[in-house]
Amino acid sequence: MEHFYLKVFRYDPTKDEQPYYKTYKLPVEKGMTVLAALFKVKETQDPSISFRYNCRAAICGSCSMKINGHGTLACKEQVTKLLEKYNTDTIVVEPIGNVKPLKDLIFDFDWLLEKFKQVKPWFIPKEPPPADGTEYRQDPYDHHKIDFASDCILCASCVSECNALKANKDYLSPFVLAKAYRFAADSRDGARRERLEAVLDHFNLEWCVRCWQCTTNCPKEVQPYESIIRLRIIAAEEGYKTPGERHAEIFEKDIKERGLLNEMLLPIRQEGVLGAVKRAPFGIKMFFKGKVNIADFFGGHKVKRHEEVEKIYEKAKEKEKEVKIRIPQILGVVYEDKRKTRKRANFLDKGGNE
Ligand code: SF4
Ligand code: SF4
Ligand code: FES
Repeated sequence: MEHFYLKVFRYDPTKDEQPYYKTYKLPVEKGMTVLAALFKVKETQDPSISFRYNCRAAICGSCSMKINGHGTLACKEQVTKLLEKYNTDTIVVEPIGNVKPLKDLIFDFDWLLEKFKQVKPWFIPKEPPPADGTEYRQDPYDHHKIDFASDCILCASCVSECNALKANKDYLSPFVLAKAYRFAADSRDGARRERLEAVLDHFNLEWCVRCWQCTTNCPKEVQPYESIIRLRIIAAEEGYKTPGERHAEIFEKDIKERGLLNEMLLPIRQEGVLGAVKRAPFGIKMFFKGKVNIADFFGGHKVKRHEEVEKIYEKAKEKEKEVKIRIPQILGVVYEDKRKTRKRANFLDKGGNE
C-alpha cells in the first residue's frame, strides 16, 4: 500500500456547532507513527489541526487519543502495523472517550486531575526519614507489589473505554484507582486508611464492571483493573466492609433463613435509610413490575421445602474453607505480572545485585 487515509476528529468550539471528521491522504512510510502522521498533516496540508504531544517516546503521556476505537498513545502506534491489524487503508483518530473535547484531539484533563487529587497521589511516610540521612528503603518484594502500578504516565488511555465511567461520571476512573493502590499498598505509606476511605466513598470499588478495557488499553502495563481488585482485598484486610461485601452477607443470611432474597429490605440493610431513600424510585418501579412483594417489608416468607435449601447451604459451608484457601492462590496466579515476576526472580537470584 502506497497511501493511507488519516480520518481526524475536528472541532473548534469558537466556530463549529458540531464536531466533524476530515480525511487526509498520506504516503505510507516505514516506521511512521500516528503522531508523526499528524505532524505530516499539520506541516504539509492543514496547520490548523490541534493535538498534544511532548516526548514522542511513550513517556510523557501527552499524546493519548482514540485510534481506530481504542485509547492509546499516538507516538507508540505505527501506521503500517495498524493498517495491517485492522486490514484497512484508513486510520481514525479522535479524542479519547469519556472526556470533553476542547479542540480537535485535545481534551479536558482538569476534571480527571480533580479526581486524582482525592486519593492523595503522593508519598506520605509513616515513619520519619532514616536518621543517617539515607533515603527510605524498601524490601524488593514489597516494591514488587507496587512497581507495575508505579509505571503510570497519566495518559488517561484507560479512561477512554471505561464502562463504569461512562455510566457514572463521579466514578474516580481506572488510573486514579491504580494510583490509590500504588500508595495504599506501599509498605512505607502512612495514609492507607485515608486513601481507602477516598476510594470507598461513592462505591468506587463497586462501580467497576470488570470489562478489563483499562488493562487492555494501558500502554504501560499498569493493570488498573487488577489494582482495583487488590484495593478491594486491602480494604477487606483493613476491616472495611464494602457495599458488595454487605450485599453478600445479607444474601447469605436470607438464603439460609428463607431460601430467597428479601429485595424489599435489601437497600435499607445494605446502605442504611439514606441509601434506601436514594433508591426509592427504582424500588417503586420494581414494585409495579411485580419484582418485589410488599409482604417482604414485614419479614417476608420462606420458600417451599426450605429444609432442602438448608441442606445445600450446609454443604456449601463445608466447601467454604477449601475455597477460601484457593482464592488467594488463584488471584496470585491471575494477577501476577509475569514480566515483572521474571525481573524480580532474576534480581533476587543475583542476590539483589542486578
Ligand atoms: S475494568 Fe473497571 S475500571 Fe477498568 S475499564 Fe472496565 S469498568 Fe473501568
Ligand atoms: S493506567 Fe495506563 S492507560 Fe491509564 S493513565 Fe496510567 S499509563 Fe495511562
Ligand atoms: S508524546 Fe509523550 S507519550 Fe506520546
